[in-house]
Amino acid sequence: MCSIIGFSGNEIAAPIIVKGLKRMEYRGYDSVGVATESENHIELKKGIGKVTEVNSKFQLDTLPGKIGIGHTRWATHGKVTDLNAHPHPSNSGKIAIVHNGIIENFEELKKQLEDDGYNFKSETDSEIIANLLQKNYESTKNVKDTIMKTVSEIKGHYAFVAMFENGQLAAARFHEPLIIGVGQENIFLSSDVLGFIEYTDNAIYMKSGNFVILENKEFEILDFNGEKVKHEITKVSKEFGDAYKGDYAHFTLKEIYEQPELIFKAGERTVEGIEEAVKYIKNAKNIYITGSGTSYNSALIAKQILSKYVKIKSEPIIASELQFAPETIEEDSVLIAISQSGESADVLEAVRIAKKSNCKIISIVNLLTSSLTRKGDVVLGMNCGPEIGVAATKSFTAQLLVLYKIVQKLNQNITINFEEFSKSISEILENPVKIQEIAKELKEVSDVYILGRGINYPIAIESALKLKELTYIHAEGIPGGELKHGPLALMDTDVFVIVINPKDSTYTDTLTSAREIKARGAKIIGVSDIESDVYDYWIKIPKINEILYPISEIIPIQLLTYYSALEKDTDPDYPRNLAKSVTVK
Ligand code: AGP
Repeated sequence: MCSIIGFSGNEIAAPIIVKGLKRMEYRGYDSVGVATESENHIELKKGIGKVTEVNSKFQLDTLPGKIGIGHTRWATHGKVTDLNAHPHPSNSGKIAIVHNGIIENFEELKKQLEDDGYNFKSETDSEIIANLLQKNYESTKNVKDTIMKTVSEIKGHYAFVAMFENGQLAAARFHEPLIIGVGQENIFLSSDVLGFIEYTDNAIYMKSGNFVILENKEFEILDFNGEKVKHEITKVSKEFGDAYKGDYAHFTLKEIYEQPELIFKAGERTVEGIEEAVKYIKNAKNIYITGSGTSYNSALIAKQILSKYVKIKSEPIIASELQFAPETIEEDSVLIAISQSGESADVLEAVRIAKKSNCKIISIVNLLTSSLTRKGDVVLGMNCGPEIGVAATKSFTAQLLVLYKIVQKLNQNITINFEEFSKSISEILENPVKIQEIAKELKEVSDVYILGRGINYPIAIESALKLKELTYIHAEGIPGGELKHGPLALMDTDVFVIVINPKDSTYTDTLTSAREIKARGAKIIGVSDIESDVYDYWIKIPKINEILYPISEIIPIQLLTYYSALEKDTDPDYPRNLAKSVTVK
């Protein structure tokens, strides 16, 4: 989603803002811009493309002054154009804003402002904020009243930073993230700690419904009624500073290779949390598990392992669907909410709905400073370090490991040798040559189907999601038994099918499906611990405890999709049109 940043300090703002935007690139975006204030004058530069491209084209980092705002845009209202990029100046040019989120009543407000003589240069909802601020500033003559009046008029979920030509900055938060970075000499207002982590690890997580006014490094936080609000400074984990690629070509590759190590770390700091979570699970009337995308795929696996290993029934719910069937949630149940970022709007909405029904929330989350963390009755940390690649890789593994640890607590007979498991994962990663060769074969393919049964079916769906995101190839996960009920019609010589076929109870049936597909001329990639003549390509996975198969299956597929992305010349870290944390509904 969009990233916003504001800066006021003792150093020239523009280069610091450009660096901050670069560190927040992982959040996904299509255009970039910076505005600064110097000698009571606002200057602004913006355009479409990556931070580095736009900076070399327009020299964003040469803008003058020690106060500024910056933005990377992920288009929601209006096409990807230079004019739609942020910052947006007000008509007078005396105020400029950057915004993340959606202004729901923008059409109505635009009409009113147009009637008042304001004109609009962009198609965005955001430009409304700039002109509304100007209108309100002209009548109130002070920043505090201007912000209060403006937030009372706009509807939607948003965070924005406004810069006034007198050098004052103001930022408001309503259900979109906004964090104040408090350095000795510099103050930041940012969507993400990565916007300022190089300069300070002191952060204030602003509450929704609050705004801040910043002038000459002095700031004051107020609620939307204008009452002063006390704040707490949190030390941001230094691990965010590790968000560098190191020797790896891409973050995604680095994150795939971090997995053998995180097997020991996932859930490590949350041992007591797991005990507490287990108590809630045992006493719950019903158990619901929610998430979006990859995190929802973890929920599908959670349902299977809870039922198979501890005989506990649960219902996975796609987070974005719950608002259309809130009656699904019965009173006094437990909702397990899974989210890497802890900021997915759909997941937060699902939590809100469950809380209304008096449910306990178990949050499984990576970013422990996120909104979901604050909403959990029990919080279980994935503890896998920052995940920058937009496609979830190590966080999926970490989610599963936390879930396994819950199941182990519920059933002491389940033994997992994590040491051995870590070694076997390392072996998969040690020799990617065969996977790289298969990736070359996928280069020209337009349709890939992935087959799996039982616990391997969610892995088929997750593999399809990875292929779509990283390679833009059309991919579909299919439950093996459904093949004959329709998808078999699609099988021909142009198609590749990945069969997820470990030696578990699904093995024989899936092998039969593979033969049926092969008879129609499609190419088969077998992901299995046992070789077979039916596979045109065999991706060998280790023989292990069957509960662990999902992780050992997805890791080589993550590698395959990564190398296929390289073959197709797509950017594995930043797939087109996608954002790392989807903070709008
Ligand atoms: C996964 O590769 C995706 N980028 C996406 O589906 C992601 O898992 C989803 O948006 C949920 O994000 P969260 O875990 O941060 O809530």
